[in-house]
Amino acid sequence: MNPYRLLYPMRTYLVVVGRGEEANVMAADWVTILSAKPLMVGVAIAPRRYTWKLVKKYREFVISVPSLDMLDDVWIAGTKHGPEKLKEMNVTLVPSKAIETPSIKEALANLECRVVDERDYGDHTWFVGEVVGSSYQEHAFKDGKPDLEAGFLAHAAWTDFVTFEKRIYRPGRDSKP
Ligand SMILES: Cc1cc2nc3c(=O)[nH]c(=O)nc-3n(C[C@H](O)[C@H](O)[C@H](O)COP(=O)(O)O)c2cc1C
Repeated sequence: MNPYRLLYPMRTYLVVVGRGEEANVMAADWVTILSAKPLMVGVAIAPRRYTWKLVKKYREFVISVPSLDMLDDVWIAGTKHGPEKLKEMNVTLVPSKAIETPSIKEALANLECRVVDERDYGDHTWFVGEVVGSSYQEHAFKDGKPDLEAGFLAHAAWTDFVTFEKRIYRPGRDSKP
């Protein structure tokens, strides 16, 4: 087993790139927040991905937050190569607010990013995006917090996905004796 699996379960996201007929979507686990102000996120994308070429070309990407309902789309996005896969997916690409790369209507949230830095690390390129626009579904984020009923998706092992149990644990109140 590759030791990177020791960091799993990880949340799974969709990365949207390109525009028009060229628009493409891939699944990505290796996504993180790097700065709150300005908000910056990083994503590791292997150069052999079609997505990589489009990030290089347009210097933009959208991080979309899929729900459990979108599991089959996530799997297609994560196993097929290039924009043809969009024909098999049940996602609607809609205009973003601040960039030309589209967002995904069905996603729980979309973060619109402009590439501000990039660097190759081993077999992936780390793209840093400044978040210049965003959208989200009201029902999934109530009172500034994710509503766990919305079915946020995480990845446990290659074909195994999980979602969060609908129970909150608070330190002190729920810690083990
Ligand atoms: C759940 C999941 C997470 C993935 N995470 C990443 C990732 O973080 N970075 C990456 O380069 N590839 C990742 N992949 C692989 C790409 O999504 C996959 O190779 C995809 O087919 C690339 O599509 P493209 O060639 O159209 O860009 C992941 C695949 C799955 C199923």
